[in-house]
Amino acid sequence: MGQESFKIVLLPGDGIGPEVIRAARHVIELAAAEAGISLSFEEHVFGGAATDETGFPLPEETLNACLRSDGILLGAVGGPQWDVCAREERPEYGLLALRKALGSYANLRPVTVPDFLADASPLRPSVVAGTDMLIVRELIGGIYFGEPRGRASDSAYNTLRYSKPEIARIAQVAFEWARRRNGSVVSIDKSNVLEVSILWRDVVSEIHQQAYSDVELSHMYVDNAAMQIVMNPRQFDVLLTGNMFGDILSDLTSTLVGSLGMLPSACLGGTVGLFEPVHGSAPDIAGMDKANPIGAIVSSAMLFEELNQPELATRIRRAVEQALLDGYRTADMLAEDSTEVGTKEMTNVIANRLSEVAA
Ligand code: IPM
Ligand code: MN
Repeated sequence: MGQESFKIVLLPGDGIGPEVIRAARHVIELAAAEAGISLSFEEHVFGGAATDETGFPLPEETLNACLRSDGILLGAVGGPQWDVCAREERPEYGLLALRKALGSYANLRPVTVPDFLADASPLRPSVVAGTDMLIVRELIGGIYFGEPRGRASDSAYNTLRYSKPEIARIAQVAFEWARRRNGSVVSIDKSNVLEVSILWRDVVSEIHQQAYSDVELSHMYVDNAAMQIVMNPRQFDVLLTGNMFGDILSDLTSTLVGSLGMLPSACLGGTVGLFEPVHGSAPDIAGMDKANPIGAIVSSAMLFEELNQPELATRIRRAVEQALLDGYRTADMLAEDSTEVGTKEMTNVIANRLSEVAA
């Protein structure tokens, strides 16, 4: 301890991205300083902002900086002004290209609802309180990347394709996490309709039988899973999904905790870890000091877990929890008796609690 030093690349991106990244940087700079860990930051242009500046959403310089770093913290990408761009110039294309270039095939999206947050959900507190699930989403395959893809004059097409090795490696991640958590995996598919899902189910079952029979495995159709997540979220521990099902279900899980602004994520398995809040760029509130910085701040805690700094991660998580326990909320999370604060004040409230919660 005390001798560690890490190079972190910040990719603020678009919309509220820059605000939430500024918030996360402030918190991690303080937390690291208190823990005697030295951090260096490099900020690079990415997403729509990069398209405006360079013509590409993922400029080579940005990618190279990412590949040389110890971890990447990303804000958000996208906005209506880039919807008209060619595919390769769109911010979302840059994000997919970055995930692919890093080889980050495993996207971890944890969702927890402590009792004291249950009243922020539009669902009944008795339903959501105690939720503790982890979505393990395949991130660099499936219909997002399948070829052929394209558009003809009056039709358009995409390809959903998964190979056995692609399914096997993400299934392993899910089973490993289940072992470290509560020992169960629900694998999501649409095997009543799709060949890819039949293969998915077969491969997941095979990996389970070969190496993880201590973990409880069940399979669920994605449409049923959407309902079960809302009806009885506590039944889930690890949810294993393909790329698009995971994208959709992870937004749905945000209703459990009240706001998409709360959810963190980690993209792992590749050269360097990429950490990004689950939320989008929210152009409607960009620059207004309204964004919830917690998704980005807790993503930075996941980054430190990956850098083998669990104490630092715990300290950041506890500071966030204490700020929420003390009743501070951004507008997306307001509840009775809470104190409404903007992005900057929420960040300061969290930063101020870092030293109190020292592990
Ligand atoms: C997410 C986002 C991205 C995705 C978009 C911006 C490409 O929605 O990370 O959930 O679909 O993966
Ligand atoms: Mn999404």
